[in-house]
Amino acid sequence: MKTSKELLQKAEKIMPGGVSSPVRAFKAVKGDPVFIKEGKGPRIIDVENNAYIDYVMSFGPLILGHANQYVINKLKEIAEKGTSFGAPTPLEVELAEKIITHHPATDWVRFVNSGTEAVMSAIRLARGATKKDKIVKFEGCYHGHVDHLLVKAGSGLATFSIASSAGVTEGAAKDTIVLKLGDEESLKQVFEKYPDEIAAVIIEGIPANMGLFPQTSEFMRLIEKLSKQYSSMFILDEVITGFRVGLGGATQYYNIKPDIVTFGKIIGGGLPVGAYGGRSELMQNIAPLGSVYQAGTLSGNPLAMTAGIATLEKIEENKGTYSVLQNNTELLTRNISEIAREQDIPLNITQIASMFWMNFSQTKPQTPDMITKQSVEIFADIHYYALKNGLYLPPSAYEIGFVSTEHTPEIIEETTEKLIETFKAYNQVQREKT
Ligand SMILES: Cc1ncc(COP(=O)(O)O)c(C=O)c1O
Repeated sequence: MKTSKELLQKAEKIMPGGVSSPVRAFKAVKGDPVFIKEGKGPRIIDVENNAYIDYVMSFGPLILGHANQYVINKLKEIAEKGTSFGAPTPLEVELAEKIITHHPATDWVRFVNSGTEAVMSAIRLARGATKKDKIVKFEGCYHGHVDHLLVKAGSGLATFSIASSAGVTEGAAKDTIVLKLGDEESLKQVFEKYPDEIAAVIIEGIPANMGLFPQTSEFMRLIEKLSKQYSSMFILDEVITGFRVGLGGATQYYNIKPDIVTFGKIIGGGLPVGAYGGRSELMQNIAPLGSVYQAGTLSGNPLAMTAGIATLEKIEENKGTYSVLQNNTELLTRNISEIAREQDIPLNITQIASMFWMNFSQTKPQTPDMITKQSVEIFADIHYYALKNGLYLPPSAYEIGFVSTEHTPEIIEETTEKLIETFKAYNQVQREKT
C-alpha cells in the first residue's frame, strides 16, 4: 500500500487539498495528514500501520468507538438485503420513534443525509411557517455549510452580515444577523429592531465548533422566550449534542423547549445522516403535507438508519453509558491539566459530558473571539508531537475532542503517557529555539 505522503501527493492532483472536507488537510496544524485504513474501538491505524488513540472519533458520531461489533453485525445483515429502495422502510419508523421517545421537543422527524441538510431544511421550515425572512445566529457557531449561515457579523449591532465564503451571494447573507454568544442585550435589541421580520434564532446546543462554550440556561431561555413573544422559531442545532450530552441532548441539559431541533452525527452511528424535528403541527408544513418542499433520494437510507438504531440501542441498553463517559472524560482532562502544569505548559480545558477542548493559554476565553493567536500556534505544535507519539487529536485548535465508550481508564492512562512525551518534545524544541 502507498504511504500517506504518496497518497496525499496523488490526492492533491485530483481533489481540492487532497481531502473531502477542509480541516482534514491539516492546514491549521503542522505536518501532513495521515491516511487511515482502519479503526477499532478507541484506535485508528494509518496506511503505514502506525496506530493512534483517536480523540476525533469522526468529529462526534462514534460514541461507541470504531467498528463497534454490534453495529457492524447489524449493518452486514441489512446490507445483504439491499442498500436503498426509494420507498419507505420500517427502519425509518424505528429510528424516528427512538428519537421522539428521548427528545423532549420532537414529536415528528424528517430524515436527511447530513447535518448541513438538516439545518438548511430547518431554516426553510422556519421561514415557510413564519412567512418571515431574517435569521439570527451567533458568532463562532457552525451549522454546516448552509449559504446563509456562512456569514460573519457586519460592523455594529444588527447590521446585515457579510459572506465569509466566496460563492455566497450578498442576497444570501443579507437576511442573516450575527450576534455575540451570550449577549442578552443585543438579542433583545435585535428583536425590538425587527419585531416582524425574524423567522428564527439558531444556536448550537452547546457551541462546540470554535472552542467549547456552554451557555447559561438563562440565555437559552431568553432565546426561547423572545422567539415565542415575537412569533419566531427557536432552532436548536443538536447535530453534535444530540445523544452526546445525554439521551435528551442539550434540550434536556438546559431544560428548554426549542421549536425545531436538528440532528446528525450520533443518530447515524458513523453513516451519513441528518434529521430535523419539532411539534407535529409545525412539521405538517413539510411536503407532502404542507408547502415547504424538502426531499432526498437517499434520505432514510436503510444502512444509515440501521447504524443509528444499533448505536442508540447500545446506549439505551447500558443505563450507565453517560456517567461512564463523563467519568472517563473527567479523568482524561484532569490528567492532561496535571501534566501540563508539571511541564509548565499554559493550558485550560473545558469539558462537558464526553466533549473536551484544550486551549493553550493561561486564561480561559469567555467567547470564541477571545481565543488568542498564540494559543492556536501552541496547539499546532502540540498536535504535531501528539501525532508522532500515537495520539490523533482534532486537527485544529478550534475543534473539540470526543471521548467514546471505548476510551476506558486504561486507554486514558496510555493517553496520559503519550501526552507526557508530547509535552516534553514540545518543551525540548522550545528550549532549543531560545
Ligand atoms: C453543530 C453543527 N451543525 C451542523 C453541522 C453540519 O453537519 P454535517 O457536517 O453533517 O453537514 C455540524 C458539523 O460539524 C455541526 O457541528
